[in-house]
This record gives sequence, structure tokens and C-alpha cells, in this order.
Amino acid sequence: MSSTHRQGSAPEPLRFRELLPVPGAEDVDLAEAYAYPLGLDRPWLRANMVASADGGAIGPSGRSRDLSSDPDRRVMGVLRGLCDVVLVGAATARKEGYRPVRPREVWADLREGRPATPRVAVVSRSLELDAELLTGAPDDARTIVFTVADAPAALRRSVAEHADLVVVDGVSVTPEHVVNALAERGLYRVLTEGGPHLLAEFVAAGLLDELCLTVSPHLLGAGSPRIVAGGPGTPGGLEHASALNTPVRLARLLESGGHLFTRYLRD
Ligand SMILES: NC(=O)c1ccc[n+]([C@@H]2O[C@H](COP(=O)([O-])OP(=O)(O)OC[C@H]3O[C@@H](n4cnc5c(N)ncnc54)[C@H](OP(=O)(O)O)[C@@H]3O)[C@@H](O)[C@H]2O)c1
Repeated sequence: MSSTHRQGSAPEPLRFRELLPVPGAEDVDLAEAYAYPLGLDRPWLRANMVASADGGAIGPSGRSRDLSSDPDRRVMGVLRGLCDVVLVGAATARKEGYRPVRPREVWADLREGRPATPRVAVVSRSLELDAELLTGAPDDARTIVFTVADAPAALRRSVAEHADLVVVDGVSVTPEHVVNALAERGLYRVLTEGGPHLLAEFVAAGLLDELCLTVSPHLLGAGSPRIVAGGPGTPGGLEHASALNTPVRLARLLESGGHLFTRYLRD
């Protein structure tokens, strides 16, 4: 949830050059470039992730911010302004210090007729979550917490006092549980910001509609995980092939400051 801009301050001018579908277009309107499909009748799941040029997702700081930049934060801000809910795994929420999303003046048009901020939805078995993420959200954008029936009872009770708690039977919150619960709440424009373990579950379930991937001009080497990790398809070594192969189409490619901004849609 990092931002270089104070709440309500005007963002600095940054230029985004379009490489696809219209090569050479300057001053791209990001809200238009990343608009969700119109007339959605189900949740549309978009992921926004950043990777190094050699495919790493986590830098030396243990976070993705080593790979980020002002243009990347600008795109992230627009994607948040467009969505109804920001969905993350609890490890990302803890590591990146997630709090309720702060309102921004520049979102006024994007959010007309909707709450000033998207809700944050967190998936967690342990329920080890920062209190501010639960208590600091406005009434019209309460944090949603997905957990399992085995989660510690005392934590379940305290989370339920402040947040919208969704408890799922079984050992795991499945992507289908998440999508169904968001649909029940009318939250169709979904933005997941990972992390790699949660994203892998949505990819494996075939429920990811769109991947907005920033390719950052860094090399992180073999020590860095990819933007998907764990679960089905996890390689045990180079001799293992993935069981998954979902075609995607490159719908948009932008460049700013040496960073590439891809928008892939499931074919
Ligand atoms: N490059 C990027 O774009 C990017 C984006 C996001 C994050 N990151 C980085 O990725 C790292 C964190 O990602 P991660 O992959 O380790 O973790 P993650 O996907 O963010 O979160 C994993 C956690 O989510 C909960 N969870 C996931 N699936 C669940 C399920 N099916 N049922 C119940 N709970 C479930 C569990 O929480 P509990 O532990 O609470 O039970 C699990 O430990 C951080 O270093 C972060 O900086 C990078």
C-alpha cells in the first residue's frame, strides 16, 4: 500500500507510452487503459504484480518494493481507484503493512456512486492480522476476512467485532469461496495484489481473468520466488513440467521510465 504522494495531493506528471495496441501513443489515460469490462454479472479477477526482468517477485528487502517505481505506484493507484475490493493473502498483508485503503481526491470520478475507497479482503488461516487493518476501515468499506472453521476461536470473535468475517468449512479457503462471497456482496471489480501463494491458487483454479504485470528493470537472480508460488504446479526441479498451461492474450503494453506495464487477458 505504499505511495509517494500524500493523501489528496496532486500526482506528479508521469508519461506513459503505449506500445500496444497503438504503438507510439503518448499521454495514455490509465483509467481508460485499465477499465474493467462493462456490464459485469460476476466478479472479474484482476491481479496486479511486479516482477524483475529475470522473473523474480521479491527483492533483497523481502518485499516487492525493491522492484517498484513512481510509474508502478501510479498504475497501482489507478487500479485501486477502479476496483471494488483489494484481495490479498495474509502474508502479504503482514509483510507489506496493509491498512485500509486511503481515499484520494483523484479517484472522485473513478468512484462516483461507490464508496470513496475499495474494501480490503484478506485470506488467512491464522488470523494474525494487524488490528488497524480491521478497526481502521470506514463503515462503507469494512475489511473482509476469509478464514477457516479451525482458526483460533478467540481471534475469530475479535475479528468479527470489526470486520466482515467469512468462515469456510474445511482446511482451506478455496478461490471459489472467495469469488462467491465477493459476488454476494456485489463486489465484481476485484483486484488481487498477491502474494505469490494466493495468486497461484487462483491461477490453478482457472479463476484469474486478467494479469497486470509490471516488468521492472532489475535482475534478482535465482534466489527470488516467482509471482506464483506453492500449491499445484510447484516445480520440484528442472525435470518437472507444469501441469497448467492457460493461454493469455497481451491486450495492452505501456512503458514508463524503463518499466513495462503488461495487461494480459485470459483467452
Ligand atoms: N512481486 C509482487 O508483485 C508481490 C505482490 C505481493 C506480495 N509480494 C511478496 O510476496 C510475499 C508474500 O507472499 P506469499 O506468497 O508468501 O504469501 P501470500 O500469498 O500473500 O499469503 C499467504 C497466506 O495467506 C493465507 N492463505 C493463503 N491461501 C489460503 C487458503 N487457501 N486458505 C486460508 N488461508 C490462506 C495464509 O495466511 P496465514 O498465514 O495468516 O494463515 C497464508 O500463509 C512478501 O514477501 C511480499 O512482499 C510480492
